[in-house]
Amino acid sequence: MNKFRSVTKKTNSRFMPIPTFAFSILISYACSVNALSYTPGFENSTPPRKGEVAEWPKEKFKANYNFPITVADQSNQPWMVKNPKILSERADYYKAVLDYGLQALDGDMTNGCPQASADWFHAPWMTRGPSGREPLCGLTKERSTRAGYVYPSLTTKRQAWAVGLYNNTGGYQFGQVWKDKNNPDLTKLNFQNGSFVIKFLFVDIDKNDKEYTHLIGSPEWKAHVYLDEKESTVIDREGKRKTKPMKLIQIDFGVKDQRFSSTTGWIFGTFMYNNQTGEEPANWRDNLVPVGLAWGNDPGKTDSASFSEGFLSDEIKSLRSTGVLFDPNKRTYFGANDRVNGPIDNPESSCLSCHGTAQVHAKKSIWQPITPAIKNGANAPEEIRMLWFRNIKSGEPFVFTDAQLSEVSNPVGQPIEWTPPLMKEFVSTDYSLQMRMGIENKYEEELTKKAKTPQQFKDLNMFYHKISR
Ligand code: HEC
Repeated sequence: MNKFRSVTKKTNSRFMPIPTFAFSILISYACSVNALSYTPGFENSTPPRKGEVAEWPKEKFKANYNFPITVADQSNQPWMVKNPKILSERADYYKAVLDYGLQALDGDMTNGCPQASADWFHAPWMTRGPSGREPLCGLTKERSTRAGYVYPSLTTKRQAWAVGLYNNTGGYQFGQVWKDKNNPDLTKLNFQNGSFVIKFLFVDIDKNDKEYTHLIGSPEWKAHVYLDEKESTVIDREGKRKTKPMKLIQIDFGVKDQRFSSTTGWIFGTFMYNNQTGEEPANWRDNLVPVGLAWGNDPGKTDSASFSEGFLSDEIKSLRSTGVLFDPNKRTYFGANDRVNGPIDNPESSCLSCHGTAQVHAKKSIWQPITPAIKNGANAPEEIRMLWFRNIKSGEPFVFTDAQLSEVSNPVGQPIEWTPPLMKEFVSTDYSLQMRMGIENKYEEELTKKAKTPQQFKDLNMFYHKISR
């Protein structure tokens, strides 16, 4: 279940408002009382829901949880030869990262989803609920694109789905944490230098849609997603599903790189697919535009001209200034104050601010906001909003002082379960939100197992839904 979807449409979360869960509650209850033929959390994909078994496609996606027990030699990381802090080296850096990351898939990705290459791995426990891995390509549901947020011609929300793959070094860490599949080892959460993760994001756009021209030639994967965006957000029942073609729109990456240890220890960046000619490209990669990269949040700064820890690319800024990207009445900046963020991401945040909240409580799942959650919203003092844009060092939890905590409030009215005592027991998952989600899903599974009746199961799941968005 995608833990970070919001409770209502007004929320700042990256993900969709909560869809509904009645069916999943029923089917999950059924699963919880029946013998399981797999290790929960380590399935390839999310089991079909009640009433959908007949039309659920045969699982094709194979997750790779076969994590390495030793780390491969990392002396030849291809991106190390370039320094992304230097403008003139940035284009080569982007290319090195992309060349490397595209090796994560074993085969041509333009028409259908290849399986993971050997030595590339998936995060476990992403197989719960209405946002869990679908059975064809292993995609999990993401925050929908908002009207006017990507292209001005994109005037309706679109569901978005994605899959992430970790390299050997990253996979090693998952193996350490999940050595005992029933008991994640929270002392092993710090990724090693050279850990790399790539994430392919797809959007539901049809050949008849006017914004489709921007996506001509982009890789197309058929996945078992929702019929449409509306179905993906229906409250109190599961939306209808359909196997339909999804178009690649964004490619995110994260690299643990000690060159950036004085800020965050990581560098995050992204590419977007944009076809400007409307012609079939000779090579789809030619239409990938670097969006930006960041190794810090430029704490406290509100003027992007003064940023020194992350940069949008000139190409993407020019697409925006010439009106190709964003309906200016809806969106003018990428991330907060124009920090680096993806076109489909929440502009109130940034890659590194969301990922800086990657942490779990040592014992239980609690509701933790990932984007700024502040009393008085837009009218709040800037220094409070800026709390989300600090440089959290790799391995450090994202915590507040008591005074800062008193300014925190959830814009959608849900309680935020941040208290000084709870905060003392936070453990960083080192910028990996999939690691965080996985551990929280495991916690919640344990909780729901305690249910003796369907009603108790539902109540516990209500709790689960409340804490997870
Ligand atoms: C609003 C919060 C938010 C923002 C902004 C955001 N992410 Fe994420 N990201 C998430 C969540 C939540 C997950 C885990 C769930 C998933 O993968 O579906 C995730 C997963 C990922 C992953 C897979 C590995 C991991 O950490 O779990 C990568 C790589 C990634 N994001 C890169 C980026 C990049 C690059 C940007 C900016 C261009 C970005 N993200 C912006 C919330 C965010």
